[in-house]
Amino acid sequence: MNIYKKLRFLEKSLKKFTPSLINLNNENIKRIKPVKQKYDILSLSGGDNMITREEAYDLLKKHVKTRNLIKHCLATEAVMKKMAQHFNEDEEIWGLAGLLHDLDYEYTKEKPEEHGLKTVEILGNMVPEQIKNAILAHCEKKERESLIEKVIYAVDPTTGFIVAGALIKPEKKLSAIDVNFLLNRFKEKSFARGASREQMKSCEEFGMTLEEFYSISLEAMKEIAEELGL
Ligand SMILES: [Fe+2]
Repeated sequence: MNIYKKLRFLEKSLKKFTPSLINLNNENIKRIKPVKQKYDILSLSGGDNMITREEAYDLLKKHVKTRNLIKHCLATEAVMKKMAQHFNEDEEIWGLAGLLHDLDYEYTKEKPEEHGLKTVEILGNMVPEQIKNAILAHCEKKERESLIEKVIYAVDPTTGFIVAGALIKPEKKLSAIDVNFLLNRFKEKSFARGASREQMKSCEEFGMTLEEFYSISLEAMKEIAEELGL
């Protein structure tokens, strides 16, 4: 309901009880300027700014040149958004955390002790603390406390694990794999060694079975299969 409709509704309701109390005509209503609400300030700690998704994506492309790494960030964004939906959390915030989590990867490849910290430095006050903390938590620069911090930690290796799963199929498509296939690959230690089993299994920290976790992650990635080239 826009502001004019809201006022008209309010006027009608008030007139019902006190007909002479209020007399809003269209001219009066039009003079009342609606307050432009950029985002829910109360949901952001310290009233920080928040860049748009478009700005965040441009920032990512500015700092990350490896196409596969950009795809990994897009996959992480998609899964984080789907997880936010599942937990009834803020999709925009969770999505941005996923999209930006490896922003400094190319600068810190040889200095993993700086991974995450550099991203937070680049982001400054462009995003709320919640996103910066999630980014720090994904690479263990911060203890996992909030839900978003726990989820991003588990999601990070999962996107690569799912990509590796699709790539061993002759079709090289996400549509060729399902949750059971992923659960079986999980048990195969030699498959996608880089994807930490412990990290993926940490989905249990936020009350999800590996099966459910893979199901949501795979579904999210299938939705952007074309962008991922899978
Ligand atoms: Fe990552």
